[in-house]
Amino acid sequence: MSRVLVVGGTGLAGRAVTAEAVERGHEVVVAARRVPDDDADHYVNGAAYVTADLVTGSGLEEAVDGVDVIVDTSNATGKQAAHVFATGAQNLMHTAARFGVHRAVLLSIVGADRSAYGYYRAKAAQERAYLDSALDTRIVRATQFHDFVTAIFDRGRPLGALLAPTSTRFQPIAVGDVARVLVDAAEGDGEPGSVIHVGGPRVESARSLAEQWKQGSGSRRVILPVRLGGALGATWRAGRNLVPEHAVDGGLGYGAWIESRA
Ligand SMILES: NC(=O)c1ccc[n+]([C@@H]2O[C@H](COP(=O)([O-])OP(=O)(O)OC[C@H]3O[C@@H](n4cnc5c(N)ncnc54)[C@H](OP(=O)(O)O)[C@@H]3O)[C@@H](O)[C@H]2O)c1
Repeated sequence: MSRVLVVGGTGLAGRAVTAEAVERGHEVVVAARRVPDDDADHYVNGAAYVTADLVTGSGLEEAVDGVDVIVDTSNATGKQAAHVFATGAQNLMHTAARFGVHRAVLLSIVGADRSAYGYYRAKAAQERAYLDSALDTRIVRATQFHDFVTAIFDRGRPLGALLAPTSTRFQPIAVGDVARVLVDAAEGDGEPGSVIHVGGPRVESARSLAEQWKQGSGSRRVILPVRLGGALGATWRAGRNLVPEHAVDGGLGYGAWIESRA
């Protein structure tokens, strides 16, 4: 049993990691800027919660004190992304090294190293902060989560539509499957300094996935093909978000995930 700190453990992926690590018998501490009440939906029984901010550094020393391994599932969007991913990762790695933390595992995205999209560039800077640190680090690059792909379709809600990016394929993965790979890495899977890729069980077109969502959710909205502009659209159309050779073993597919929500 190890003492595991899940940074961003109140978020979507972080909650799954926290639950997985508690289930495996680890002593788990969650750090985020806001911690949930113990009756909140996203509170995981068996975990302890501390308040910490990656960017200002407040609370980080208390969070890392006595920790064996960190799993970082923090997230930020817009202008905050560069602060949280680059500055935050450096703050965390320096503090962790001072406190003798042995290992750190970072959740990143497939293609983060091969895209001009600002968010991905911030993730690449975050990865570098980990790999340059004094700790034994592993980067886990995952493909798009089922929830994220569904959120893209839902962007069409104001138009009464489901948006499906054209010439785009996804390999969506369940956050529970990502969590298992992260906790495996936290327990020592992979080489120090390695980048581990993991994707969902199948590569499918955005159109096909949108059709599955329409059918499974009973939505009456029409599927609206859209060409996604900018660097993110280009990254996806080039297939840099896919790792078919690293499909997760026995993973939950998109259709089964939709059914599990019903
Ligand atoms: N979405 C996808 O399809 C996908 C695919 C592959 C990889 N990823 C990666 O997965 C990671 C997690 O994504 P997610 O959607 O699970 O995130 P999320 O639900 O948005 O959760 C983000 C977490 O980070 C915490 N956080 C934000 N700013 C912080 C700060 N300054 N200091 C400390 N904690 C902070 C949040 O808590 P507070 O706000 O309370 O601080 C929350 O716990 C991201 O790095 C993303 O790049 C996502």
